[in-house]
Amino acid sequence: MDQDFVVFIEKVKSLAAVDLSMYKEAQMKRRLTAFRNKKGYSTFIGLYRAMTKDQKLLEEFIDRMTINVSEFWRNCKRWESLRDQFLKEMIARSPHLKCWSAACSTGEEPYTLAMILHDLGALRTSSILATDLDEKVLDAAKRGVYHERSVREVPEYYLQRYLKRLETNEWEIADELRRAVKFKKHNLLADRFESGYDLIICRNVTIYFTDEAKAMLYHRFAEALKPGGILFVGSTEQIFSPGQYGFETADTFFYRRV
Ligand SMILES: C[S@@+](CC[C@H](N)C(=O)[O-])C[C@H]1O[C@@H](n2cnc3c(N)ncnc32)[C@H](O)[C@@H]1O
Repeated sequence: MDQDFVVFIEKVKSLAAVDLSMYKEAQMKRRLTAFRNKKGYSTFIGLYRAMTKDQKLLEEFIDRMTINVSEFWRNCKRWESLRDQFLKEMIARSPHLKCWSAACSTGEEPYTLAMILHDLGALRTSSILATDLDEKVLDAAKRGVYHERSVREVPEYYLQRYLKRLETNEWEIADELRRAVKFKKHNLLADRFESGYDLIICRNVTIYFTDEAKAMLYHRFAEALKPGGILFVGSTEQIFSPGQYGFETADTFFYRRV
């Protein structure tokens, strides 16, 4: 790795509390080089110096280092599985579910969960924490207004009940769902995890992490879940040998804490 980038990684770790060495290198470097060039710096150390003096540039950097794309009901069949195979049974046992949507981006994922829990009559008795590293996406999540493309997979029944079309052709999330989700800044690779979760949803972010970072994360997710609790991962993020982390496969893309 070139020295300029190595030094940058070290410095950003203390400046922004983000350890870039835990992300797959080639992809991260490509994104950051594009960002650096766009901002007019020829070296990473030059970009770093500018970020120490300019909070807005630093925030923009955090926003650009990761991919923030999300959608309601992303991979719709999986959400149906979550509802029909897991949540219904969990709620029948106890309607007090403690849920965490980790790396939630602009909020489509926790709001999808909130729709399902509301429909199953368990939203008021449950809690949903939604976290991300990037404060910009969290601001958008709290606002709860979305483009057409974010809602295209929402089944008609849920669309009618929980999203309102605005004059701008955007879609606004129902107030009762917005009130039910607590958004908070949180770095999965550095911050403390709460425990006692019944459900953790973490999708489409571990693909950017190194194998070591992934392994650490799966261990920590297992510790954060109650025995019998479920981890729901993205459609390209199957866990290899889940037993080594204290999980068993409950279905494709669903892991149960043993
Ligand atoms: C592609 S989005 C996935 C959004 C949503 N989970 C989904 O599947 O639709 C990835 C998100 O991970 C967040 N992220 C990246 N690194 C993170 C970290 N270390 N801790 C918490 N969130 C992180 C990014 O800010 C981004 O919002």
